[in-house]
Amino acid sequence: MSKVVRSVVTGVGGYLPEGVVTNDDLAKIVDTSDEWIRERTGIRQRRKASDDQAVSDLAVEAAKRALAAAGRTAEDVDLIIVATTTPDLTFPATATIVQRKLGAPVGIAFDVQAVCSGFVYALSTADGFVARGRAKCALVIGAECMTRLMDWTDRGTCVLFGDGAGAVVLEPQEGEGTTDDRGLLGFALRADGTKQDLLYVDGGVSTTRTTGYLRMQGNQVFRHAVVNISEAVTAAAADAGVEVSSVDWFIPHQANQRILEGVAKRLGIDENKVISTVAEHANTSAASIPLALDQGVQDGRIKPGQLLLLEAMGGGLTWGACVLRF
Ligand code: UT7
Repeated sequence: MSKVVRSVVTGVGGYLPEGVVTNDDLAKIVDTSDEWIRERTGIRQRRKASDDQAVSDLAVEAAKRALAAAGRTAEDVDLIIVATTTPDLTFPATATIVQRKLGAPVGIAFDVQAVCSGFVYALSTADGFVARGRAKCALVIGAECMTRLMDWTDRGTCVLFGDGAGAVVLEPQEGEGTTDDRGLLGFALRADGTKQDLLYVDGGVSTTRTTGYLRMQGNQVFRHAVVNISEAVTAAAADAGVEVSSVDWFIPHQANQRILEGVAKRLGIDENKVISTVAEHANTSAASIPLALDQGVQDGRIKPGQLLLLEAMGGGLTWGACVLRF
């Protein structure tokens, strides 16, 4: 095998806003119960950003922690990609706001909009810069204030989402061109625009000129999720040249504990290899994977050299998976 440049995760960071909203809190405003939410989703609580916190503030905190973990400073950063569906402003990109707040020098900065699949899309996009020598120190961030998109009269959606941010630092490292290399080894990205009605926001700049509210046919999305994610995971593993069975940690998008378990079962992944944060974080859209990764790193489960499988599905519909050696 010839030598190749890999995009290696050298630091991970997460940030959750302080405000905690329990299921009992929500039962006071919509016709729901702690029991229903736990049984159907596994969610026990979610975090809510304070009114004066923008999504860039969450992103900056996560980014600072990821940079510290990588032993880098904002000065080193030459690429920032923020995956978000809840930007500070319609423009500029949240990534440029993060760049300014971090004090990072002039470089490349833009957002990726693939809703809950955003982090998987952003990581794959960043690989195109890092592995080709266009960036030496990239920040890939998933950050969301999903509670700002909720219709607080719709019990079918408002109990499911939360706020947070997670970030990774990606740096180029030479590998041997084998699956033992550290770095992003393979990915599969998918989108099917014909399924828009299943999950979307009913407002936008060029249509209603409003922000709109999240609308979802939950049980339909659920059905697509288990089947589609499994296909993308298999394709990403094939792209990486690894067997799904050799994965050390499965780090799924955290939408619903039943989806996590359904996908793991379909792929034959041991439930002890699944990192789950849905109980404490709920669905933080593009932030959920880096937050779960951060949790696994912080509690010592995920170690350098281990093989990780990330997957997500969200509005679009979009979905995808990445395989990387940590
Ligand atoms: O991150 C993006 C991707 N999103 C997802 O992956 C979400 C996928 N979907 C889901 O996680 C699940 O479909 C939900 C958690 C959203 C719903 O669970 P479900 O088992 O599919 O329930 P359902 O939508 O079929 O609804 C069953 C019942 C309905 O009542 P009836 O019609 O049977 O009387 C709903 O009205 O549950 C009712 N219901 C609720 N009851 C209490 C819906 N939401 C609630 C609620 N509390 N919060």
